[in-house]
Amino acid sequence: MPDERTFVLVTDRPDRSAAISAALQVIGACDVVGPDETWQHRRGLAGVISDVTLSRPETDHCLRALQHRFRDRDLPVVCLLRKTTRETLRHAKTLGATVCMPAYAPPETIVAALANQAGIFAESAERAVGLGVVRAGEALTGLLAEARAGQQVRMGAVEAGLGPILTAVQEGGLARWLDTVWTHDDATYQHCLLVAGLAAQFALHLGFRHEDQFRFVRAALIHDVGKARIPLEILNKPGRLAPDEFAVMRTHAALGHEILLAGGEIDPMTLSAVRHHHEMLDGSGYPDGLVGGAIGDMVRLLTICDIYAALTERRPYKDPMPMAEALRILAGMHGKLEARLVQSFGEAMAAAA
Ligand SMILES: [Fe+2]
Ligand SMILES: [Fe+2]
Repeated sequence: MPDERTFVLVTDRPDRSAAISAALQVIGACDVVGPDETWQHRRGLAGVISDVTLSRPETDHCLRALQHRFRDRDLPVVCLLRKTTRETLRHAKTLGATVCMPAYAPPETIVAALANQAGIFAESAERAVGLGVVRAGEALTGLLAEARAGQQVRMGAVEAGLGPILTAVQEGGLARWLDTVWTHDDATYQHCLLVAGLAAQFALHLGFRHEDQFRFVRAALIHDVGKARIPLEILNKPGRLAPDEFAVMRTHAALGHEILLAGGEIDPMTLSAVRHHHEMLDGSGYPDGLVGGAIGDMVRLLTICDIYAALTERRPYKDPMPMAEALRILAGMHGKLEARLVQSFGEAMAAAA
């Protein structure tokens, strides 16, 4: 079982070990050892990550000891290399490396490689989604609670939720993410986690650079932070809002922008995404009635994810809308959404189905 599965991280980089061992939690327990230590536990070992300078004699000793102890089975060993010369690759193989990666690879990528090697992909996918929803939920809970209480929001706390969302969608698949999030009772949480998952899938599909994936998912997760200041009887009202209630609801975009500014947010894309995710290319949106080129690309992408999430949300009082119908409605919003991006979004959803 995943809870009993143990991995050893042999490392001489204490600054990186916390991030790698946190990412490893998705697939099991992690024991961190230095290169001059010997792993003595009697538990079964499911795999090793080596993040050490291979030329050090103690590294040789440590890795060979593990290799010898578990010689009767194929132990997956991910070896992180500071230099990828033919010589270091050969050296890593003699120390039992089953896969070699650059030392600066993101922790999630390292863990995914180990999970694949250890043949535990399906189980790890499920755990990745579970952990992602929990971490993202925690990040969001803190943010919304601070905003609701009129306190200054701490944007730093949001960061911890981003990697787990991307890992969950990448490893576990969007469908699993949506199924898990749809079970969430609170409409605002459900919606923000849905939009974040859709944004992760869209960013991965479009091949965003690593840092842009994070920025986009971050904006998606917090895009409706202004709803924390909307009265609950309006926010959670089942069915359609009356015109005056709708006017109150619409203030969430500008309120969210204010909340982020007060919290010290400086990223222009994030600020714009929070303020403008209800703007339409034809100027019919709110709060500023922006037209065409005044709406940035990332904001346009987020708006598509947002509308799709709203259309497909699960509520006790209505049947969920199927994916194909929601995509048809998006495609029918001529002049309001960029057709090319709607098409890409449909492809990203189809790729995840
Ligand atoms: Fe919104
Ligand atoms: Fe939204």
